[in-house]
Amino acid sequence: MSDIMQQLHLDHRNVATMLNILEKHLKAVRELEVADIELMHDVMVYMTSYPDRVHHPMEDFVFQRVKEKCSTNHEVLGVVEREHQELSSKGKRFREMLDHVVDGSMVLREELESAGSDYVASLRRHMAIEDSKAFPLAERVLEADDWAWVASQMQATQDPVFGAVVAEQFATLRRYITEQSE
Ligand SMILES: [Fe+2]
Ligand SMILES: [Fe+2]
Repeated sequence: MSDIMQQLHLDHRNVATMLNILEKHLKAVRELEVADIELMHDVMVYMTSYPDRVHHPMEDFVFQRVKEKCSTNHEVLGVVEREHQELSSKGKRFREMLDHVVDGSMVLREELESAGSDYVASLRRHMAIEDSKAFPLAERVLEADDWAWVASQMQATQDPVFGAVVAEQFATLRRYITEQSE
């Protein structure tokens, strides 16, 4: 498997961890219990920085290359590319709601819960389609020079939470994840 595909699979595992955190704390919001809003906020700052700015663009280059090499129209690629835009908007909206709560502004509990749950469900569905259809297709179609081309389109960017160096702003989130996995 190419380094790019290994990274994409690893990103999916890490994003799944983030979605589990959101799900747990959204349940607390729904059940009128104490939810860790700061933690959810950190998750969404991460989601709108690393996955939205590195993971999805990298996939877009992969899918673009597959389309260039395939004479068959693979509908799934259009679907996942469109979803990247939708997920980015949904994530931004949810993050902005959390920004308001952290700032002490009023946000309706139901609206926060509904935006967050929709985001979690949409992203899980999206990753499942990529894992089951889009990634296997890319692996069948792309060759070493294609993967090298994708790599050449991307700036080397470390994951600020799961990478070797944890960014200062994500130290609490990283600690929480480590504690949960122990
Ligand atoms: Fe994607
Ligand atoms: Fe993905």
